[in-house]
Amino acid sequence: MFETLTREADDPLLALTPLFKADPNPAKVDLGVGVYRDDLGRTPVFRAVKRAEALLLETQETKAYVGPEGDLAFIEAFWNFVAGEGRDAAGVQTVGGTGALRLAAELLRRSGSSRIFLGTPTWSNHSAIFQAAGLSVVTYPLFDVASQNLLAGEMMSTLADRAQPGDAVLLHASCHNPTGAVMDDATWAAVTEMILRKGLVPLLDSAYQGFGTGIESDAAPLRRLLDQVPETIVAASASKSFGLYRERTGAVYATSPSPATRDKLKSHLVTVGRGSYSMPPDHGAAVVRTILTDPELREDWRTELDEARQRITAMRAILAEGLSPLSPALAAIATQQGMFSLLPLDERRIIELRQRSGIYMPLSGRINIAGLNSGQAPGVIAALRAHAARG
Ligand code: LMR
Repeated sequence: MFETLTREADDPLLALTPLFKADPNPAKVDLGVGVYRDDLGRTPVFRAVKRAEALLLETQETKAYVGPEGDLAFIEAFWNFVAGEGRDAAGVQTVGGTGALRLAAELLRRSGSSRIFLGTPTWSNHSAIFQAAGLSVVTYPLFDVASQNLLAGEMMSTLADRAQPGDAVLLHASCHNPTGAVMDDATWAAVTEMILRKGLVPLLDSAYQGFGTGIESDAAPLRRLLDQVPETIVAASASKSFGLYRERTGAVYATSPSPATRDKLKSHLVTVGRGSYSMPPDHGAAVVRTILTDPELREDWRTELDEARQRITAMRAILAEGLSPLSPALAAIATQQGMFSLLPLDERRIIELRQRSGIYMPLSGRINIAGLNSGQAPGVIAALRAHAARG
């Protein structure tokens, strides 16, 4: 029976890492998968994470199950980190931000929603997650790579013409992946008004809080939307903001003004989790809970996250200056936010850059600016200019 299977393609983004590792070029640069690196090219464990782990090692007395919804104190503290104090939600801990999106998609389907609107380009895994849960994906263009402009008009006209009550709309809460182009306040206001007018359900994907302009300011548009739209879903990841990538730490939250409805929402989220992996893992959530509920650890974590953001902002300025002679539009790299920007490169050139210069990026042209350090930046700029000159 198994012989009838055809082989699935490797994930093109994740497949870059082994390719990079196998390349003997000593000057190689990994601008692929979205992990933060410091100026020495390391992805360090946050100081506060190390200290929280030491505390847990000393104090944890059992490995007995935590419970189907996960760590309740984490769920609350992490919600306050994302949504601010004082907002009610039904939340459960998930297997990373991806697990949160998958549970969100299952909840949408169980609530009678069958379609989700996705602005493209978007994170390469979004469509697969929603389709795996049985939702139909409707795409619309959200970004023009040549001009580096966000196509807010396309989003609004697509939703106006095609969205039906109960359809879901995916919104990147901050630091758009893969473009770095974030919606301005007027666009957030317009899309919020459209969601309310048409009875749509916003699904906010929050994975890069703290990497844009600040922990609080990055969350401001999401919080404004929560204040205005009664029924929302938030999929939140701790992978980047706490540097916990491999610990697969996240949570999904659904909002409703009714406590009885929130109780039902939680029961569905727990049931979907139980039917797929039973219970989420403990460690990453325990670390985040420990940091967020200890003022000193929290302050130290915040300082380190602020430093990471400042380093990315500095890299953005260097890249924007170095690449804008290729196209004035690339000056936008300086003001885009978060880990990623999208370069207007075709696949042939991206493969050439890999083979001739050891510069690794996915075939979409997305670069992980957080993967670049000041030692490598001049070489990357020179290589991109030389490849462009060759035509
Ligand atoms: C990325 O976009 O690079 C990250 O979110 C990692 C992933 O899982 O794709």
